[in-house]
Amino acid sequence: MNIRVFDSEQQAAAACATRLAEAVRARPSLVLGLPTGRTPLHVYRELVALHGRGALALSGVRTFNLDEFVGVPATDGGSFRAYMDRHFFRHVDLAPGNIHFLDGVAEDLEAECARYDAALVRAGGLGLVLLGIGANGHLAFNEPGESLVAACHRTRLSRETRVANLMLFGDDPGRVPMEALTLGMGALLQAGRAVLLAFGEGKAEAVRAMVQGPVTPRCPASFLQLHRDAEVWLDAAAARALQ
Ligand code: GLP
Repeated sequence: MNIRVFDSEQQAAAACATRLAEAVRARPSLVLGLPTGRTPLHVYRELVALHGRGALALSGVRTFNLDEFVGVPATDGGSFRAYMDRHFFRHVDLAPGNIHFLDGVAEDLEAECARYDAALVRAGGLGLVLLGIGANGHLAFNEPGESLVAACHRTRLSRETRVANLMLFGDDPGRVPMEALTLGMGALLQAGRAVLLAFGEGKAEAVRAMVQGPVTPRCPASFLQLHRDAEVWLDAAAARALQ
């Protein structure tokens, strides 16, 4: 793992957007894995700014978002799809047909997961995946547990993760979904390159476990230690527990 510590979240985000833009210039049909959450917000803002200045063309890029809530339609403001539209998709020139998303209200959720994995395989897998990390060490919605799942799957969200996503649902715990669909560990670990961002004190312990702890399903992000091209970009607060 290649660890970089930046002076601020903004600097890390700007560097990350620059890195993504370079990757797209080098490969205009790049397949990008995209996260949601608070962490990548500045990156999306920077990418939108680069696009606005004519420094980033995304018309050939294909995107696969990492996860979506079960039972939440794309039209619901709390969905990850709505988040992506708000913060990124509607501001750039991605072709609508190149945007891939899990459908959390599909009639057959198992079939939906199989469809998504197959679409990703057809696209050649993720060329570059941008990742955040849960305070409990989750990657996408691969939650800590006894074991991990390689394929795209339906999963039950931990209490901690549901609390972390409260803001998407008007801070109403009753509205936060109990389940989600997520890409599995296989798609994430087979990505050509992984760039994980973590900011703030609240992530320090998870970052330590990911980087310096054992490779264990108790900390799904620790599996990135096995990735051949994983970068971890932090601010000083998130790096605090590293020795
Ligand atoms: C979310 C997402 C993850 C994200 C993580 C951290 O619920 N499923 O993809 O990386 O939790 O979120 P945040 O960036 O808001 O801390």
